[in-house]
Amino acid sequence: MHASDQLGVAVVGAGYWGPNLIRNFRSSNDWDLRAVCDLDTARAEQVLGARSGVDVTASLDEVLVREDIDAIAIATPARTHQGIAVAALRAGKHVLVEKPLADSVQNGRAMVDLAREQGLVLMADHTYCYTPAVLKIRQLVEAGELGEILFVDSVRINLGLVQPDVDVFWDLAPHDLSILDFVLPGGLRPTGVSAHGADPLAAGKACVGYLSLPLPGGAMAHVHVNWLSPTKIRQMVIAGTRRTLVWDDLNPQQRLSVYDRGVDLAHQSVDSVDRTDATISYRLGDTWAPALPEREALGAMVTEFADSIRTGRSPSTDGDAGLRVLSVLEAAATSTSSGGGLVDPTIETLALEEVS
Ligand SMILES: NC(=O)c1ccc[n+]([C@@H]2O[C@H](COP(=O)([O-])OP(=O)(O)OC[C@H]3O[C@@H](n4cnc5c(N)ncnc54)[C@H](O)[C@@H]3O)[C@@H](O)[C@H]2O)c1
Repeated sequence: MHASDQLGVAVVGAGYWGPNLIRNFRSSNDWDLRAVCDLDTARAEQVLGARSGVDVTASLDEVLVREDIDAIAIATPARTHQGIAVAALRAGKHVLVEKPLADSVQNGRAMVDLAREQGLVLMADHTYCYTPAVLKIRQLVEAGELGEILFVDSVRINLGLVQPDVDVFWDLAPHDLSILDFVLPGGLRPTGVSAHGADPLAAGKACVGYLSLPLPGGAMAHVHVNWLSPTKIRQMVIAGTRRTLVWDDLNPQQRLSVYDRGVDLAHQSVDSVDRTDATISYRLGDTWAPALPEREALGAMVTEFADSIRTGRSPSTDGDAGLRVLSVLEAAATSTSSGGGLVDPTIETLALEEVS
């Protein structure tokens, strides 16, 4: 690609995650990183290193008036996403936003609506959706290799930093939810959300969280997120009527395993006392491991951002995907405060729309 065909980008926020975006934009042929904006300019300069040729500023306005900047990537805390994204969209810039898209459905919706009005790309960095493992999972589910989904069980636990501004649901569950949105046929559309949070150390927020998401058709997804676990587990089980898939992200030799095993229920007696009529059979077959390329998810993510800008199509993790994740997170907050009751995430979204 010609240097002149490259899109100009500025990264806003060079704290913990921003440097990963900076590195991937810098090494992409599609992009020319032209500025980094952080309130802490010393931090931005340190991340870029000496003689980077990339401008550093604390002023978002300075970035937004530049005509050689086509897009802004936002890696600041979630509560600031909406303000920065709205300013950038009003200035005619395409926007990439770190997960979660915003700190509320209402703020996320304002961003999605404005991007649509302006005809600009709004993309959520749901990083895991660009990993070879998750892309493979989506392919297998889409091709019907697992059959109908029966249940999903996702565990994301370790000794995590207790975040100052968000609880464990808002910190970790966006990953699981965005993956579910990406791989489940029709996206993440649970019929309800039930959540339990615990704060056994009195840290002032939930540090242990359990989310139950009944899915259309009778299936169930469960997500366990936890900052207090001395063992680190990153595992998702997706069971289907034909096969079951286990993704262990901490096992680079075999991240994905597909089990040709399952339970068939041919016929169940209607009479609960007389179970002799029930025909349950267990299928025991092989286990295989799909081959996965080793490549960095964020490289594929910045390519997707450039492609969607060039072609005018929605990115595969667009603002609507970000909104679906937010609606579950908000419903989870309502559910935890009501002792775990089942909350309808769509009603939650509608209720907020009415307010706005
Ligand atoms: N995709 C992932 O896997 C992943 C992983 C970690 C964090 N994140 C997300 O990245 C975002 C940033 O998280 P972090 O852990 O890097 O936070 P951080 O606090 O380490 O860094 C934020 C940076 O933004 C700067 N900043 C804050 N407000 C600003 C403003 N108005 N204008 C310019 N700069 C501003 C701060 O000075 C700081 O350097 C969050 O949305 C987080 O959820 C995503």
